[in-house]
Amino acid sequence: MLFELHYRGFDGVDPDLEWDPLLIHSRGMLEGCLEEALRALTAADVRRAGHSGGDLTTQLTWLIDDLDRGSLATFLQRRATEAQFAEFMRQRSIYHLKESDPQSFVLPRIDGPAKAALAELQYDEYGAGRPERLHAGLFAQAMEAIDLDSGYGAHIDEASATTLAVNNVMSMFALRRRLRGAAMGHLAAFEATSSAPCRRIVSGIERLGLPTVTAAYFDEHVEADAVHEQLAIRNICANLVEAEPHLAADVLFGAASCLRMDQLAGTALVDSWRSRPAPRRLVEVHA
Ligand SMILES: [Fe+2]
Ligand SMILES: [Fe+2]
Repeated sequence: MLFELHYRGFDGVDPDLEWDPLLIHSRGMLEGCLEEALRALTAADVRRAGHSGGDLTTQLTWLIDDLDRGSLATFLQRRATEAQFAEFMRQRSIYHLKESDPQSFVLPRIDGPAKAALAELQYDEYGAGRPERLHAGLFAQAMEAIDLDSGYGAHIDEASATTLAVNNVMSMFALRRRLRGAAMGHLAAFEATSSAPCRRIVSGIERLGLPTVTAAYFDEHVEADAVHEQLAIRNICANLVEAEPHLAADVLFGAASCLRMDQLAGTALVDSWRSRPAPRRLVEVHA
């Protein structure tokens, strides 16, 4: 709720609360706990990546390869029911309806080639000059095609603890200038682990016979994120660390945080499906 005041806010809530000293103070304390927990969760990963040798690009790639687990995408590809797929879309909507917005906060905090590369990536995420191609808009269309409410924050009450944590980590990294290295490492890991899973999700959508509009969002990301991966690792993170070498460890910390949180959220969802009886058909499919 505190982070959301920096994005779109809430109906009926005073927008000036965004900078209310008491709320900022409270947020700082909560962020302290979150950052401490994340550092503990990823300390061994960051250490191993640092010892893997090579430059930042090599270490980052090593870390991503080491921690990338595609269990959720594989489940969606092979086994998920329509109701489970719809649940996945509702959980993911918390981020994807504001896709790439957190990372925009980082633009004024970095400079030179890293800034130019981040602007290039964001331009793409924001539709490259075509409002109808905004990635958040494509996700909304994907939801509407399977009769889900695509209103901003519509599913927030249903969001799991891990879904909220995934979103909070992104906002904390992006809104805290000290953590700009972590924000960009997070972005690199996010982009680098998107293309192959999106391909699996497209095949899951086809297996279920869901509308092509729903597949279109993921299809777009098969190619786009293969390009974004290179842009984020080589042009953003490598240039950022060249300009500010002391950020190297935080770039790895951000990447490891993204991958560990993604694992937690993905595993929680798949485990909840495995432990529950197959849900009723909740989505009417329009062929
Ligand atoms: Fe995107
Ligand atoms: Fe992307």
